[in-house]
Amino acid sequence: MAYQVIIPAAGQGKRMGAGKNKLLLELNNIPIFIHSLKVFDQDELCEGIILAISPQDEVEFKLLLKQYKVKKVLGLVPGGKERQDSIYNALKTVKTDGIILVHDAARPFILKEHIHRLVDTAQKTGAAIIGVPAKDTMKTVRDNVVTATVERSSLWAVQTPQAFRFSILFKSYEQAEKDSFIGTDDSSLVERIPHPVTMIEGDYDNIKLTTQEDLFFAEAIVKKRQG
Ligand code: CTP
Ligand code: MG
Repeated sequence: MAYQVIIPAAGQGKRMGAGKNKLLLELNNIPIFIHSLKVFDQDELCEGIILAISPQDEVEFKLLLKQYKVKKVLGLVPGGKERQDSIYNALKTVKTDGIILVHDAARPFILKEHIHRLVDTAQKTGAAIIGVPAKDTMKTVRDNVVTATVERSSLWAVQTPQAFRFSILFKSYEQAEKDSFIGTDDSSLVERIPHPVTMIEGDYDNIKLTTQEDLFFAEAIVKKRQG
């Protein structure tokens, strides 16, 4: 089943503290966002990529897309204030009523096999996300005082990509805009339509590069994959 993917890359990478968009930092001599894009560019089921970038990065990103011969970029859209705004800008340009994925450019380790499982599931159910069961004991805390211990077996850490039938995702964004709702992922918008979302068990390597220490984990994952 073919799909298109929206890749938000228009953040500022503040928590990484690199003084520039963290997606331009290199892993194995290749910019982080190029790693993420290449997985989709090389997937035969991917029909196209819509990339959200901030105007200040435009020249550099365009050069790198050329240099690394990324072929499937259908469109570049300007990022918005929040991640959700960047994705909404991209969604408004999508011309498909098929399956649409959203994948953070800051997650370079997604595997093709998992993308395909998400696409197949979203085709059947309308919405599928990937995540991993929480490993740590989880507690809620207020003002540095524990308020509760949450039953771990029901908690999953959620990743991207998240896959949806386009009409469902678009409707959820329209609804969120109407209600001024801002979620931290796309699924949270779809859940509140409401529409059921299927969880697929992914892999702990699919990390998001957020802070400096994530770069050390990332180097280790690169080495592991090189064998
Ligand atoms: N993103 C985006 N538009 C925004 C904010 C974020 O497209 N207005 C993208 C980022 O580029 C990243 C993904 O959404 O690929 C996930 O966001 P995050 O990891 O939070 O990245 P940043 O927002 O760049 O980092 P920070 O929050 O530390 O500034
Ligand atoms: Mg952010």
